[in-house]
Amino acid sequence: MRVLLTGSAGFIGSAVDRALDAVGHEVVRVDALLPTAHRDPTPDEGTHVVDVRDADGWRGLMEGADVVCHQAAVVGAGVTTADLPLYAAHNDLGTAALLAAATEAGVDRVVLASSMVVYGEGAYACAEHGRLVPPARTPEALAIGDFDVRCPHCARPVASLLVDEDAALAPRNAYAASKVAQEHYSLAWARQTGAAVVALRYHNVYGAGMPRDTPYSGVAAMFRSSLERGEPPRVFEDGQQRRDFVHVDDVARANLLAATAVAAAAPGTFRAFNVASGHPVTVAEVAALVARGAEHPLAPEVTGEYRLGDVRHVVASPARATAELGFRAEVAPTAGLPAFATAPLRG
Ligand SMILES: NC(=O)c1ccc[n+]([C@@H]2O[C@H](COP(=O)([O-])OP(=O)(O)OC[C@H]3O[C@@H](n4cnc5c(N)ncnc54)[C@H](O)[C@@H]3O)[C@@H](O)[C@H]2O)c1
Ligand SMILES: [Zn+2]
Repeated sequence: MRVLLTGSAGFIGSAVDRALDAVGHEVVRVDALLPTAHRDPTPDEGTHVVDVRDADGWRGLMEGADVVCHQAAVVGAGVTTADLPLYAAHNDLGTAALLAAATEAGVDRVVLASSMVVYGEGAYACAEHGRLVPPARTPEALAIGDFDVRCPHCARPVASLLVDEDAALAPRNAYAASKVAQEHYSLAWARQTGAAVVALRYHNVYGAGMPRDTPYSGVAAMFRSSLERGEPPRVFEDGQQRRDFVHVDDVARANLLAATAVAAAAPGTFRAFNVASGHPVTVAEVAALVARGAEHPLAPEVTGEYRLGDVRHVVASPARATAELGFRAEVAPTAGLPAFATAPLRG
């Protein structure tokens, strides 16, 4: 297949590039090499330095592509409302421009990099009141170290469940809103034009090539940086927050499977999949696993610090991706996170 890959110079895009190339697909690489993502914006040979929003930039590039694999995005949390236009510009408008260019070039198959952030909070159930959408944790509760999510009816702590793809979308920041928007543009485009889209909702991705110390790099990278400075990893809240850490090589394989699946999908379809390891871990466990692999291991420190708006638990079921794409993560967090402690990072 000929695959047009956007964000090909990024952390995940480079891994997808290698996975596609390894099985003989032809890859057309597109990346704007944003200075916020690349300290050294010198393009590799074969990278087309194009901003996905630039209609003229697309000329000729889409020709003959069987599938577009859209990884390009501005990533991170979107801390203040001042970030809203940035995410909307690159992610919302970028996706809209890409879909328009695809139709113009006769390309009607897209794999979209989405994220677990589209869900907002994870799924919960109270022993007495069943499944529920809990209210946000209050600043007062967090201030006294009461980190549990509580049932709005009986105030008891609720159990964290696996989120499936039919869960309601509830973005909580500019970045999350832009990932939902990318999905919605793609869904509308598929319906409108008879195209087909597979959206992959990655959970916490980690592995070699991850950016070092950007304000937005994930918690595993933060723990690693602390250890490299000779400091213990600092774990927020009580460390019992549940997450799913999925290795970048598994994410790349999921993209490969998705590209094949979308090429054969029925016209007018949009299908979302969780891409997760299927082995939930607590943030305290993540810190301990990264520390275990460090050159100079140090026991993590649980600090009780917190950030308003942080999600307590979000863990997913990868069952749909297994059933429909044949995806199963191969790297368990117990092996991948210690190895990540010394894996090469991007500058
Ligand atoms: N890293 C994670 O844990 C994670 C989790 C969920 C989803 N995702 C999604 O995966 C995708 C890849 O993320 P990543 O972690 O590799 O980030 P990254 O910053 O390493 O890569 C993104 C790439 O996109 C490029 N880019 C951004 N805007 C562009 C534009 N307008 N035109 C062309 N190129 C542009 C950047 O230059 C960069 O190379 C994103 O869509 C992101 O939302 C990442
Ligand atoms: Zn209850």
